[in-house]
Amino acid sequence: MRKMTEQNMINAFGGESQAHMRYLHFANQAEEENFTNVTRLFRAIAHAEYVHAGDHYKVLKHLNGGFVANSMAAFGPGDTLKNLQLAIDGETFEIEEMYPVYIEVAKFQEEKNAQRSFEWSYASEKLHRQLFEKALEAVNSGNDVELGDIQVCEVCGYTLEGEAPDRCPVCNAVKEKFTAFR
Ligand code: FE2
Ligand code: FE2
Ligand code: FE2
Repeated sequence: MRKMTEQNMINAFGGESQAHMRYLHFANQAEEENFTNVTRLFRAIAHAEYVHAGDHYKVLKHLNGGFVANSMAAFGPGDTLKNLQLAIDGETFEIEEMYPVYIEVAKFQEEKNAQRSFEWSYASEKLHRQLFEKALEAVNSGNDVELGDIQVCEVCGYTLEGEAPDRCPVCNAVKEKFTAFR
């Protein structure tokens, strides 16, 4: 694998892994504040980030040994209002900077598997941000967010609110590949 794409993939694995862990901690905080749906949302999206990290990890299976991952990670957790803002900031970085750039580099270097893994993640980060924004609005006025079932594709991490589709719009996986957080 070409070195720049490879390093970007290592970094993306680091970013997704840390997002997974942060959201689990943010879920615990939301639970303490009795925001049941925000708790569920953080756990669902933490799972999507776990899927993203796993997809990236598989693309790197040719590596052997230790490598340094440089990834943006939000520090300084607070109450749920603050944590939602940190989550939105992290998703925004991925949407506006990280993934568009990583996708272009992978395209330029004709690294098809890497490009696909970046594109799969990129597709759901936009929905993550939307869902966190909706939650922030509710929590900002002191309420839990109104939220239907959250579905996460086990293949690509695609995330949506409502019923699982017959086919994942991103990776074409069948309905049975969706895990519901209800
Ligand atoms: Fe992600
Ligand atoms: Fe995300
Ligand atoms: Fe999918």
